[in-house]
Order: sequence, then C-alpha cells, then structure tokens
Amino acid sequence: MSSPSPPRRRAAVSTNVRESPSSFVGRAGDLSAIKARFDEGARLVTVLSPGGMGKTRAATRFARLHGEGFAAHGGGGAWFCDLTDAGGVDALCGVVAAELGVPLERSADERAIIADVGRAIARKKRVLLVLDNLEHLAREAARVVRAWMILAPDARFLATSRAVLGVPGEHLVHLEPLSLPRPGQSAAEIMATESVDLFVRRAREVRPGFDPSAGEIEVLADVVRATDGIPLAIELAAARVAVLTLEQIERRLATPLDLLVRRDDTGKHASMRRVIVDSFAQLDEVMRRRLAASSVFRGGFTLEAAESVLDGPQKGVLATLDALVARSLVRAREAPGELRFSCFEAIRELAAEELAALPGARAEVAARHARYYAAFGAALAGEAATAGGGALRARLGRELDNLIAAHAQAIEEAARARGRGRRAGLVARPRARAGAPRAGPARPRPARARRGPRRRVGGGQRLAAPGLRRGPGGAREHAARAR
Ligand SMILES: Nc1ncnc2c1ncn2[C@@H]1O[C@H](COP(=O)(O)OP(=O)(O)OP(=O)(O)O)[C@@H](O)[C@H]1O
Ligand SMILES: [Mg+2]
Repeated sequence: MSSPSPPRRRAAVSTNVRESPSSFVGRAGDLSAIKARFDEGARLVTVLSPGGMGKTRAATRFARLHGEGFAAHGGGGAWFCDLTDAGGVDALCGVVAAELGVPLERSADERAIIADVGRAIARKKRVLLVLDNLEHLAREAARVVRAWMILAPDARFLATSRAVLGVPGEHLVHLEPLSLPRPGQSAAEIMATESVDLFVRRAREVRPGFDPSAGEIEVLADVVRATDGIPLAIELAAARVAVLTLEQIERRLATPLDLLVRRDDTGKHASMRRVIVDSFAQLDEVMRRRLAASSVFRGGFTLEAAESVLDGPQKGVLATLDALVARSLVRAREAPGELRFSCFEAIRELAAEELAALPGARAEVAARHARYYAAFGAALAGEAATAGGGALRARLGRELDNLIAAHAQAIEEAARARGRGRRAGLVARPRARAGAPRAGPARPRPARARRGPRRRVGGGQRLAAPGLRRGPGGAREHAARAR
C-alpha cells in the first residue's frame, strides 16, 4: 500500500489582478514599451493619458501578462491597487496595505505609515505594484512612491495617471489613441483598425449580429474618427447602435459631449463630459482660462500663436502649456521645425463651452486669433509663393484651419460692425433688388454640407489653396468646427 502523499502546501497567493471581462483590443506596442522601460532598469513607469484612453486596461493587462515573472524565484507577484477614491496619503497607504494583506498600525505619523508600508513592500522582494488612477493625488503620491522606491529597491511600480507624478526616475509611457482609419483605405483595412474593431465588438454587445454593410463602413470610419480613437468615447458611441443608425450617430457626434453618455451609469466613466470635467476641476484659474481660450484654435497651434492669443501677459503662457501637457489636456507633437499643440475634440468642446461662459471673453480671444493669423498669413504669403518657398508653404498649410477660422471671424466681426453702424444710422442700407442675395457677408457654409458626411476628412482638403497641404489632424478638427 502506498503511503499517502504529504498534504501539498497551498501556493501563496501572488496576485490580486483581475482583468475586465470585456474584450481587449490593440496596445501591443504600449505593453512592449512598458516592458522595455522595466527591462532597462526603470523602477517607476507612469502610463499617462487623458481620461478614458485605456490606462487602467493597459496596466491591468501588463500585470496579468507579467505577474508570473514577478512571482517566480521567491518574488512577490503583481498587485493591483485602485486609488480612484483615495483622498490622501493615509488612504493611499491603506489601500496598498490592504491589497498586500499586511496589517497597518494606526498612527497619526504620516511618515511612519509610509515607512511601514514601504517595509511591507520590501519584504515581497521583487514585486510589481500597480498604482491605478493617481492624478488626483499626484503630489502626495510622488512623495510616497519616492520613499517606497528607497525602502524597497527590488519593487517595481506601474502607475496610471492623467498627470505626470514628477518623481525623480519616473519613466513615462504616453498612451495614444487606438489606430484610426486613414483616408483611402479599403473596407477590409478600415475594419481591421483598432478603433473600428473596438466599436464593432462593443456594438455587438448591445445589437447582436451588428455587421455594417459595405456602404456603411465609410460612415463607421467617420464615426470612429469623430471619437479621436479614445476607447471610452468609442464604447459610448457604440452603445448607441441600440437605438441609432450609424448615420445618426455620425451626425450627433457633431457635439460629442451630448452623445457620449452612458445610460444608467453614475460612475466616473458615465460620460466623456464627466471625465473631462473631473480633469478641468484640478486646474488653477489661470490654466483653466487659458485652456478655455485655446479652444479658438483649429488644427493645432504653435507656442508663438499661443503667446499672442491666450489671455493675460505673454509671460507665463509657456508654463501654462507645460502644465496642461503634463495633465494630458493639451497634446504636444512635433511638426517639421516646430512643436505644435492641440486638444482632442471632446476636450476642445468643453473648453469652448467654458470660454463662452466667460462674459465677453470669446469675442476678445477670437479677435486676437484673427489679428494674429491675418498678420501671419500676410508675412508668409509672398515668400511662400516663390519657388524656394516650400517650407513656408508647409507652415501655411499647417495653419490652414486657423487661417480659415480667422477669416470667418473677421467676416463675422465686419457683419456685426455693419449691424451696429446700421442701428446707429451710420451705414446706408443696401437697396433690395429682386433676387439679389441677402445683404451682409454670409457665414461660410458648413464644410460638411458641401462635402457630405462621408467625405469629411479627405474632402476637407478641397478648401486648401493650390500647393497648400493641411497638417495632420487639421482636417478632422476643421470638420468638427464646420459641423
Ligand atoms: N485596449 C482596450 N480594449 C478594449 N477596451 C478598452 C481598451 N482600452 C480601454 N478600453 C475601455 O475603455 C474604457 C476606458 O478605459 P480605462 O478605464 O482603462 O481608461 P483610463 O485611461 O484608465 O481612464 P481614467 O483616466 O478615467 O482612469 C473602459 O470601459 C475600457 O474597458
Ligand atoms: Mg483608469
């Protein structure tokens, strides 16, 4: 008779990471980037993006994929700490201690608490701690994580945040939107892009069998472009296929904040508006006013333009932009010879609402925008037309949406001035002729009406003067404005 085998010791639990049951799309490059940072010796990697971009999903997936590696050879595994509701250092330490299963002595001494948890982390040796959603306590978290990095040299920290933490040794991984269809792609190529893939998967959850026809695929491409490839926006738009056609969704995305709402949800992802309002709430007054003012730009802007158009004395605009970029509310991207700033459309729309709510501010900022681009266009136009003016033509091309917007603003302002003059009896009223067009300059007809809904991105370039090519992102932003 064989002797009974000794009772097997239960393996110590080495993770609490659970992935969302909904399907996961893309992000292979981002997951490799996080891995590469840790492999290069980083001890703190912060995944950074605006709200709803997928930081929590990406960090969770990373922890699931690599948790075993952290548990091997006596390591401590991977631990997920949701800090969304942690209001300060005590709460942050409390959440981490609870997830690691270590009792925390009650103490009024903050440093003692931080050190206690730091030592508990150190006992886990090689361990991955995911610190999720830190933006609302970025400053406190920076202090705490810095202390833990000293106390627990083998630990690795993967933070997710809408704002840079600012810890020495912090490595940033910027999470970009999911890939979007490009103009001219075939139906098969459109269906294979990450944004469309996510849309279709989520649409099928509310409308089983959702399968866009060949004719609808172009509309679907426009729909996901209008979400800017932000996963939360894609999910909220896709949920609408339960009650709207793709054409209707596309039209309603003219004002994304009204459409991108989750029914029966009061959580932090209940709507894109809620997500962005939460981020705006963390800005000081100057940042908030300047972000609001930046909504007058179309297709991005340069530092020089910002210094001329955003409010207040010029000095300080650079610091404000820096802070807004660090909070993922403004994007900074390189174009040949210059750095350009821009906002995702949903953020720009909320900023525009804030500007409209400041008495008199919109007219003032729009006037400064029109003056700046009138002078800019005049300064460059002559030389750009010469044979050697290629680089200048490219610069003008990148500003085409701003030049068009400035033009429209100047026409509107002239119309208003004429209206005021007429009311004051200063301008002769033109004599009405049968069949004559209405007096006064008309607002330029919305580009979308001319182009039709499916031609929005590529078709926008028809507005360009010969030889000028609109910069990346410009057509999309112009289309949003023109709707
Ligand atoms: N790669 C992905 N595949 C599938 N769904 C995704 C992906 N990324 C994000 N999502 C979905 O989009 C929504 C927002 O994602 P997530 O919560 O990860 O965003 P976040 O950047 O962490 O937002 P916040 O800053 O508000 O915390 C979630 O419902 C999530 O399931
Ligand atoms: Mg998150």
